[in-house]
Amino acid sequence: MTKQKILTQRFGRMHNPADIQEYMNLAGYDGLRAAVRMDKEQILDELDTAVLRGRGGAAYPAGKKWRHLFESRGDTKYIVCNADEGEPGTFKDKAIIDFDPLNLIEGMTIAGYLFDAHQGYIYIRGEYRHLHQRLEEAMNNARQMNLLGKNIMGIVGFNYDIRIVSGAGAYVCGENSALLNSIEGKTGRPRVKPPHLADVGLYLKPTLVNNVESYANIPYIVKNGGQAFLDLGTKDGGGTKLICLSGHVKNRGMYEVELGTPLHEILYSDEYGGGSSTGRPLKFIHFGGQSGPIAAVEDLKDCVYSYDGMWDKNVTIGSGAIVVMDESVSMIDYLVEVAAFFAHESCGKCTPCRIGTLRVLEMLQKFQQKAGIPGDKERFDAMLTHITQLSACGLGQSASVAIFSGMKACPEEFEDVIDTREKEVQEVMW
Ligand SMILES: Cc1cc2nc3c(=O)[nH]c(=O)nc-3n(C[C@H](O)[C@H](O)[C@H](O)COP(=O)(O)O)c2cc1C
Ligand code: SF4
Repeated sequence: MTKQKILTQRFGRMHNPADIQEYMNLAGYDGLRAAVRMDKEQILDELDTAVLRGRGGAAYPAGKKWRHLFESRGDTKYIVCNADEGEPGTFKDKAIIDFDPLNLIEGMTIAGYLFDAHQGYIYIRGEYRHLHQRLEEAMNNARQMNLLGKNIMGIVGFNYDIRIVSGAGAYVCGENSALLNSIEGKTGRPRVKPPHLADVGLYLKPTLVNNVESYANIPYIVKNGGQAFLDLGTKDGGGTKLICLSGHVKNRGMYEVELGTPLHEILYSDEYGGGSSTGRPLKFIHFGGQSGPIAAVEDLKDCVYSYDGMWDKNVTIGSGAIVVMDESVSMIDYLVEVAAFFAHESCGKCTPCRIGTLRVLEMLQKFQQKAGIPGDKERFDAMLTHITQLSACGLGQSASVAIFSGMKACPEEFEDVIDTREKEVQEVMW
């Protein structure tokens, strides 16, 4: 059965993906053309009907976010695209920018029209340097065709342009408020929320921050209607999702799947993962990047890849990363790498995250050596809980997600991490 594609429909079909004419020949700019003929309320209604959940990781409904900004007071509003793509195992935003940059630009231009915004920003990770050129070329072509700039499409007062800002490689700068600070030229550290960015955002003005994949869905929704989008997914989240398969599966890569696809199909069918690449059974999966949960493959047998379907199994879609590990991988070794990532990326603003992530790493390294002392498991549990509850931003709040869920997925690996000989020594000493 041919599967419906939204985001990858033009991939590989254009000689030059930055060329406007080629893009238009494949239905490009149909969404913007439809948007300028629609009542603005109707655009928001279509977005509500579509149930587009944010594709950056938090799955916040775009309809709600857009309506909040629409109702927010202010003459100046900003449109910001989060192209930081900092979650390890995630490589789908770069594919959109590389193979269909005008789809992103069109989505952001529809937002510019809806909110009467004059300036948009794409915050892109520094490592994607070659993609800056792709975007610049696409935007220059759009300017020449009067699809960016002043009086777009001849509509008086529709003035909107986009700038690119390059990140310097800090994971925390993908957090939306840290990202805005970074665009402003400040240190990329998260802000205290509330206020919501739709009220007080970039340069203290109401601001929309969405992920690349979220914007890239907008032209389709506006052109085809929210119901068509919803029909492709499930009632808790419409559309398709770009997934990034890596690790011990045969066919690693990026795929567009309809939400509601069985996870088993994603892992084992030849169309997607193709099963284990090593011949060994698959052991566990890490979903949505380092901040996402882990589950044992055997606990995911009838799992459906949709927002609610994943939630039923205590996992989440997050950014769309699916890192698959076979039975040769020790859970503790894996979690040491995750903990090292958070200890390295903590911005240091608040103590539970700055110090706690380091202590968690040290404790896991002790467990790795089977050198824990009595009481360490309880201390470890308390540390993880404190970091989750007391950290100021999503980085610290999610630093324990993989560790808690990883311990639950493979409890037997944590059974003998305490060196009981230590206890005897201690008793003698006391
Ligand atoms: C530490 C951290 C890193 C993040 N990195 C990214 C990122 O690289 N890309 C992204 O789109 N969202 C990232 N997010 C989520 C953003 O804060 C925000 O929720 C998202 O850009 C909103 O867009 P969406 O609603 O379209 O998903 C990150 C969040 C945190 C806490
Ligand atoms: S939780 Fe961590 S990353 Fe977030 S503000 Fe605090 S120290 Fe910085």
